[in-house]
Amino acid sequence: MILSIESSCDDSAIAITEIATKKVIFHQKISQESEHSIYGGVVPELASRLHAVALPQILSKTKEYFPKLKAIAVTNEPGLGVTLMEGIAMAKTLSFALNIPLIAVHHLKAHIYSLFIEKEVILPIVVLLVSGGHTQIVRVKSFDDMEILATTMDDSVGESFDKCAKMMGLGYPGGAIIESLAQSGDKNRYILPVPLANSPLIAFSLSGLKNAVRLLIESLGGENMSHQDKCDVAASFQHTVLLHLLQKSKKLLAKEPIKNVAIVGGVAANQYIKTGYEKLCNSLDKKLHAVDLQYCSDNAAMVGRYAIELYNNKIFTKLDLLQANTTQKHKNNTKL
Ligand code: KG4
Ligand code: ZN
Repeated sequence: MILSIESSCDDSAIAITEIATKKVIFHQKISQESEHSIYGGVVPELASRLHAVALPQILSKTKEYFPKLKAIAVTNEPGLGVTLMEGIAMAKTLSFALNIPLIAVHHLKAHIYSLFIEKEVILPIVVLLVSGGHTQIVRVKSFDDMEILATTMDDSVGESFDKCAKMMGLGYPGGAIIESLAQSGDKNRYILPVPLANSPLIAFSLSGLKNAVRLLIESLGGENMSHQDKCDVAASFQHTVLLHLLQKSKKLLAKEPIKNVAIVGGVAANQYIKTGYEKLCNSLDKKLHAVDLQYCSDNAAMVGRYAIELYNNKIFTKLDLLQANTTQKHKNNTKL
């Protein structure tokens, strides 16, 4: 079995995965959403302190598996330096105490492998990765052959949902709140500009849309606007994000011979976006693969799943060399 740890942002999670069967034997996550909500976003120092409490709490429930562990896996990039360090310190301690190897896991590769939790891999596959930190389309040929085909030029999709919700005084994280309000909203009441609509670039950009929605919200009275106005803004915003994702993905996927397509990351939990993307895939004769809802947002089971590939290929990291890689600060230049 592999014990895996995730602490790259505001979720503390630990999983135990059986290497041969890929079964998730144990998984627990403690989310810090309510603690960060009052600030409208993640406060790194607070997140780090909360991980220091939550991770040992979860770990204490995994002791019975210690004799069966073959390796310790931990997310080491990209993420917040101070929160990554919490998971890494725990991983190093366990590796040293149990005398088993360490596996360093790239958070985005883990999101991609969330597709294959308790399943065999489906490769090659083209993946739309939409999370709070990233928005990319990645061609995945194997666990160590991933190529970024398109990326955002500024904000990520998840971040834009969060900001839209924050501007309407709806709390953090905003994605699920916007999706739920949009169900009672009219997406055609306000027309927002589809980003890069007239540009030949195959890239994403969310900052212009964020500005347009900010002006709209201000014109409607900001946080004090009526509930129905909030629902209509949410529906219009969500629809415009979908149109942007579809327009750029269509151009790219139409030229791509690979038949398998997937959406991963926190935003993959959004049913409206998933359904729209599925229609696009069907029209292009592609098959859309989905991540189980429980594994869309950050979790440790995906870290364990990707770690199985590294374990089977004997790719380990030495105790003294494992560090949080915080050089990849900008979401649009993250390397895979
Ligand atoms: O993958 P994730 O848990 O963390 C990162 O790696 O960034 O993604 C979190 C993001 C947040 O921005 C959150 O608002 C968004 O995913 N999200 C959603 C939904 N559920 C979570 N966005 C849109 N619709 C949702 N239902
Ligand atoms: Zn993530």
